[in-house]
Amino acid sequence: MDARLTTKIVSGKDGIRQAAGILRAGGICAIPTETVYGLAANCYDEKACANVFSAKGRPQDNPLIIHIADPEMLEDICMAVPEKARLLMKAFWPGPLSLVLPKSKRIPDTVSAGLSTVAVRMPDNEIARSVIREAQVPLAAPSANRSGRPSPTTAQHVLDDMGGRIPLILDGGACTVGVESTVVDMTKDTPVILRPGDISEEELRDVAGEVAVFQRGRLPEGAAPSPGMKYVHYSPKALVKVFSGSPAAIAKTIRSLYHTHKENGGRPVILCPAEEEARYAGLSSRTMGSGKRDAERAVFTELRRADTEGFDLVLFHYADTMGEAVRDRISRAAGCRVLKDIVITR
Ligand code: TXA
Ligand code: MG
Repeated sequence: MDARLTTKIVSGKDGIRQAAGILRAGGICAIPTETVYGLAANCYDEKACANVFSAKGRPQDNPLIIHIADPEMLEDICMAVPEKARLLMKAFWPGPLSLVLPKSKRIPDTVSAGLSTVAVRMPDNEIARSVIREAQVPLAAPSANRSGRPSPTTAQHVLDDMGGRIPLILDGGACTVGVESTVVDMTKDTPVILRPGDISEEELRDVAGEVAVFQRGRLPEGAAPSPGMKYVHYSPKALVKVFSGSPAAIAKTIRSLYHTHKENGGRPVILCPAEEEARYAGLSSRTMGSGKRDAERAVFTELRRADTEGFDLVLFHYADTMGEAVRDRISRAAGCRVLKDIVITR
């Protein structure tokens, strides 16, 4: 890929037209979705999809999610849509839910990384759906970060990672959800959550009945049903340490590590729930807001901000109210292999 490419940031109706033009012509560009920014290509264009992998530096065995604007687009993508998948689509589309279904022959192996299945979702973002409609094809789009980095939730984040590597970023403002979609395998009788996201296990269960969770919070060893889950992920340059358990005990540990790190010439920052901020008065800290939606919106932004503000250690005070998706992302950012209840460190 030409590393001297000039990356344009565009917006509005004209921006949508420019993005769709690039995609129709076999190019790639970044588009907003409600979860995170995606790096899009025509999902039927093998070469364009290969360029997505190289621009991201993404391993070839990690398949892409296909984005559609209308349920009818599914027909060319999947062989069959089971009844439970239809129920979930009706309840959660458009929205942050990706369903893994048997793929049709039209989908190149590059997109599915050689699997016989494909992940599909309909984003709840008007701009994303307009681009898909104007491009007149479904779009394969992984998160628009360099592989291994925190996912991008603003056009600036995309520029920081992909500047000079892609021709265009369509700016749709800050993502409203902030973490990637829940990925659910629909190829067996019981749906299996492969990646936690904003749509929770309970919400899925209310609609589809029994739901299983793949390796609850553990990074799989060997072959993984969702290949993306085996990689250490979402890492800023700063070292990340995550703590969960009793707030008073966590705060004591975090404060002590903070001071030691500072005395040794380091630059620590604390990320914590709004409810616990008082425990860190006088120290460099930032709030993750209150509850799940706030924490999801903040997590990648705050990890990236730690880097741009020159911090080299992130001490993350986790609370159960932040939810499974944040727990998953922040633990992976910390490079942990197994989640523990007391201290999660690298
Ligand atoms: O919210 C999202 O899902 C965002 C936005 C851009 O839509 N996209 C995203 O894509 O997060 P990406 O590539 O960063 O993550 C895709 C995840 C990976 O964990 C991948 O392994 C899994 O989905 N996946 C894709 N196709 C799959 C398949 N056929 N079977 C199992 N897992 C699959
Ligand atoms: Mg990603």
